[in-house]
Amino acid sequence: MEEHRSTRDGAPEAPAVRVAVIGAGHVGLVSAACLAAVGHHVAVQDVDGARTTSLRAGRTPFLEPGLDDLMARETESGRLSFHTDPAAALPGAEVAFVCVGTPNGPDGRVDLSAVLAATGAVLEHAPDGCVLVNRSTAPVGTAAYLRSLALEARGDRIAVAVNPEFLAEGTAVRDFLAPDRVVVGAWSADAVEALMAVYEPIISGLLPLDLEGSVLGTAGLRERVPVVATGPSTAELIKYAANAFLAVKISFINEIAAIAEEVGGDVTEVARGIGLDRRIGPHFLRAGIGWGGSCFPKDIVALQGMAETRGLSARMLRAANDVNRDQHRWVVSRLQRQLKTLVGRRIGLLGLAFKANTDDLRSAPSLEIAAELVRLGARVRAYDPSVKALPPELQDQVELAPDVESLASGAEAMVLVTEWPEFAQLDLERLASAMRVPLLLDGRNLFDPEAARAAGFTYVGVGRDGNHPPERTAPQDREPAVAVPR
Ligand code: NAD
Ligand code: UGA
Repeated sequence: MEEHRSTRDGAPEAPAVRVAVIGAGHVGLVSAACLAAVGHHVAVQDVDGARTTSLRAGRTPFLEPGLDDLMARETESGRLSFHTDPAAALPGAEVAFVCVGTPNGPDGRVDLSAVLAATGAVLEHAPDGCVLVNRSTAPVGTAAYLRSLALEARGDRIAVAVNPEFLAEGTAVRDFLAPDRVVVGAWSADAVEALMAVYEPIISGLLPLDLEGSVLGTAGLRERVPVVATGPSTAELIKYAANAFLAVKISFINEIAAIAEEVGGDVTEVARGIGLDRRIGPHFLRAGIGWGGSCFPKDIVALQGMAETRGLSARMLRAANDVNRDQHRWVVSRLQRQLKTLVGRRIGLLGLAFKANTDDLRSAPSLEIAAELVRLGARVRAYDPSVKALPPELQDQVELAPDVESLASGAEAMVLVTEWPEFAQLDLERLASAMRVPLLLDGRNLFDPEAARAAGFTYVGVGRDGNHPPERTAPQDREPAVAVPR
């Protein structure tokens, strides 16, 4: 018999919906496990037979905090199942979520082949009345095209909607269960209603109590989650605009960091100083080695492409990309500045994943940095707590160290690439004394510069007084460098 869990206010759980999730990747698996955890029956289908087999055996294919536990629990509860054959996953579905990859092709255009194949499977196997919901990030107009396919194949018996996903890797479970908003784009009120039935436990903010404890911690009372119900094109554009805005924000602070390195000033303090302004906000103002990952790079290019193929110049997006490209070069140029030549230099990379709490290497800045260092003659080693194998193109060029101590031994520079919390706890004095040249490039501004210098390091952070001695006097005691017009 199915267990029943209570919510904080003792409200009855919303009725369970039969859901199919097509694609067992980051978005598909997190969506599926979370929807099962709030009481729905979820059948996951993926074309990758090896993946479904290992999912059935309880193995999650990537690192995502909290996901393993949810998957194990919901497989055990019988609410979550995995399939390779769409004919097994779709026949009972009231709502079918398409969560497959949308990479950019070599010409920069979005490759929709997986979305079209998944849509084909839904249209072939889902029952009448099912709502096909695209959650993959896809160019504006994709949903309209999917709808035309649905009308052709099934008349109006399968509705189509868009429901973009905003989760970030590393915090995906929490992002899904406690989102800032839910965006739905649909042609009919019925389709919106079907999606609202799926999301009600999340939108109400009343999750089963055991989930509140394990996933949301002591986040406290939450308000109802805002829902943006809008047209499909608008929903598609919201997704791209959100990622683009975040990428522009990071590029902005990275540009300020570059200015700070020339004129003086600490960008982390600047970010704090501007982020406290509620109109600006504190998030996504961490200067560093530039943005990467499976989404920002591809989505910014896709949005730029959507604009430029229509004769628009998309200047902001282009600039954000340009700044980001320069920022990826920050490590190499600072190493060159400090070490003069990189030929034969032993460089240790602390971290490879594109951000902490993930093992994802897709478009990770580390890959570009490592390749460029190797090209310039450096001997590159790397350690990342979550990465146990390098992509094929780097396997012969970069050595994976078993731990930080081994990485530091004899190194002529250490470069902090990924802000893993455990790196912040390192014994810097021990690290510096193991190195041949105690040079620390902090690509994420993770360390306290004074502590690093006290430990014996030559410390270089991003936008932190790079060419200037640290400020010792309060700003008001100093002469302004530039006369301020009155
Ligand atoms: P992913 O590459 O991790 O997973 C995609 C999965 O889909 C793979 O397991 C693949 O085998 C499967 N697949 C491919 N074709 C299929 C088909 N025809 N039928 C069934 N399964 C199929 O992708 P992801 O990171 O989950 O991203 C999926 C989409 O969501 C992309 O459009 C991405 O831009 C978007 N998105 C991703 C994130 C993220 O953090 N990764 C966040 C928000 C949105
Ligand atoms: C991002 C968005 O945050 C999600 O909302 C979105 O759903 C997702 O893309 C997507 O569409 O796939 P993700 O790429 O997982 O999520 O990770 P982020 O935390 O956004 O980081 C992206 C990149 O920006 C990383 O390289 C990170 O190091 C960098 N970053 C982030 C900074 O350099 N500074 C910051 O202040 C924040």
